[in-house]
Amino acid sequence: MRNHIGKSTRALALLLLFCVAESCKQQDSSTDAGALAPLLLGGASDAQLLGALNNAGVTALSAPPAQDPALVALGRSLFFDKELSGDRNISCSTCHSPAGFTGDALSTSIGAGGTGENQLRVVSSGSMVARNAPPLFNLGAGNTRMFWDGRVSRDNATGALTTPESTLNGITPARADVASQLTSALAAQAMFPVASDVEMRGAVGNEIRAAADNQAVWAALMARLVGTNNGTTGGMAAYRSLFSAAYPGVAYDDLNFGHAARAIAAFETASYAAVHSPLDEFLRGNPNALSADAKAGGLLFFGRAGCGGCHRGPLLSDANFHGIAAPQLGPGASGGDDQGRFLISGSANDNYHFRTPALRNVELTAPYTHAGAYTTLAAVIAHYSDTATGLRNYNGAGLRADYAATVDTNASHIQARLNARDPRVVRPLGLNATEQAQIEAFLKSLTDPSARNLSPDGN
Ligand code: HEC
Ligand code: HEC
Repeated sequence: MRNHIGKSTRALALLLLFCVAESCKQQDSSTDAGALAPLLLGGASDAQLLGALNNAGVTALSAPPAQDPALVALGRSLFFDKELSGDRNISCSTCHSPAGFTGDALSTSIGAGGTGENQLRVVSSGSMVARNAPPLFNLGAGNTRMFWDGRVSRDNATGALTTPESTLNGITPARADVASQLTSALAAQAMFPVASDVEMRGAVGNEIRAAADNQAVWAALMARLVGTNNGTTGGMAAYRSLFSAAYPGVAYDDLNFGHAARAIAAFETASYAAVHSPLDEFLRGNPNALSADAKAGGLLFFGRAGCGGCHRGPLLSDANFHGIAAPQLGPGASGGDDQGRFLISGSANDNYHFRTPALRNVELTAPYTHAGAYTTLAAVIAHYSDTATGLRNYNGAGLRADYAATVDTNASHIQARLNARDPRVVRPLGLNATEQAQIEAFLKSLTDPSARNLSPDGN
């Protein structure tokens, strides 16, 4: 999604800009010479931090490409609409809510049949979902892997998809009519929550749950939205006009759920871009955008603490899979002991590995890690300071009781998770309290102020 060209030239130019700014101050020095010293000191560490950011490929985010407003309008309507769920009781926005900063503030989500919103949502007649709901910020076209285990991906060079639905996969998919609408990994992702029994498909008894396979689920949803017999039987007039505006000239019978998913992706891309964090402003040339603590934290993050080995690139993620011995709780994707990427690749090297999360707006999107084990950034940083002690001592303190009761304390699982750690997170980091607070300040500099108050309808 982001332009990676000319990173080093860009950073050099920025360094130069800062120097020019300093010398400007020097020249019109009606001010006292003493004021210059701290500025120059700041300049030196600024240059160091810019160098570290540049080495890690961290660039200021640019706004995503403009999205077709008719697609966005359709996508917005679908995203917030419970009609997309079998029992009409849950929408995408239930688990990715504006009030929850595009997540749900729960350790692991609660699917169809649950009641209440965000922190107040309870299982009722539904169930917990295996994992934590990730935020939706900055997930435009450049992201090629979706989900904690990367089970939906798109090769943006060939357009080939890899998904849990084989008819969509490869360069010549069996259902090319559907796959051709899935023009990004983000669009492909939107096909799957509606097909998940626990997330949106709902209880036995509704026609979406009764559908025989994924393609039948998607067809049944389109029958709900636009109707059958070219829109003359059933369906909703409002959706017919939204789809017509988004896909002018396409007959209703030629629309499939891929068209809906593509519109949802356009909405997510347009509404949940966040490109004005203090770090972005710093990268754009404003040395005062970051506090001294955030700068010191940034130097630790990309230096001694080694975070930038995995949290790199514009989104602070390498989009790869690693083990950090994050605690396990909730139902888990493989019966309580979630083995992450291994479940998709079958490779022993991937056991307990999860995709490195992007860190933009991370301040807002607690709880953290794939099962939402940690409720504060300070707790995540403390975990990294000594991952073995962090995992062994973890007991879910501070979590809601129904989640705390599900913490996996099985000793052999814990040992297996420790064995699966990336070598970079094995040695205790020996960070003192000040250094941990500085890293926290750096993570907080990734917050776009506009993300603090998202509009309830994604407008
Ligand atoms: C029951 C709660 C729930 C509902 C409803 C739900 N999601 Fe999610 N969403 C999740 C969880 C949990 C994950 C992570 C699952 C995993 O990685 O295994 C997720 C993952 C995602 C991701 C991947 C983000 C990333 O960084 O990889 C996107 C995008 C997304 N959801 C969008 C949607 C859309 C669009 C809908 C509606 C069509 C939707 N979700 C409905 C809970 C939900
Ligand atoms: C070896 C790669 C790697 C290194 C090094 C690393 N991380 Fe991570 N980070 C990950 C992965 C993978 C996860 C998700 C793991 C999971 O949920 O099981 C993660 C999760 C996180 C999260 C939670 C984000 C969320 O949305 O849930 C934060 C915050 C974080 N890391 C910060 C840091 C900091 C600070 C450091 C340095 C002290 C660091 N990371 C070092 C790979 C890494």
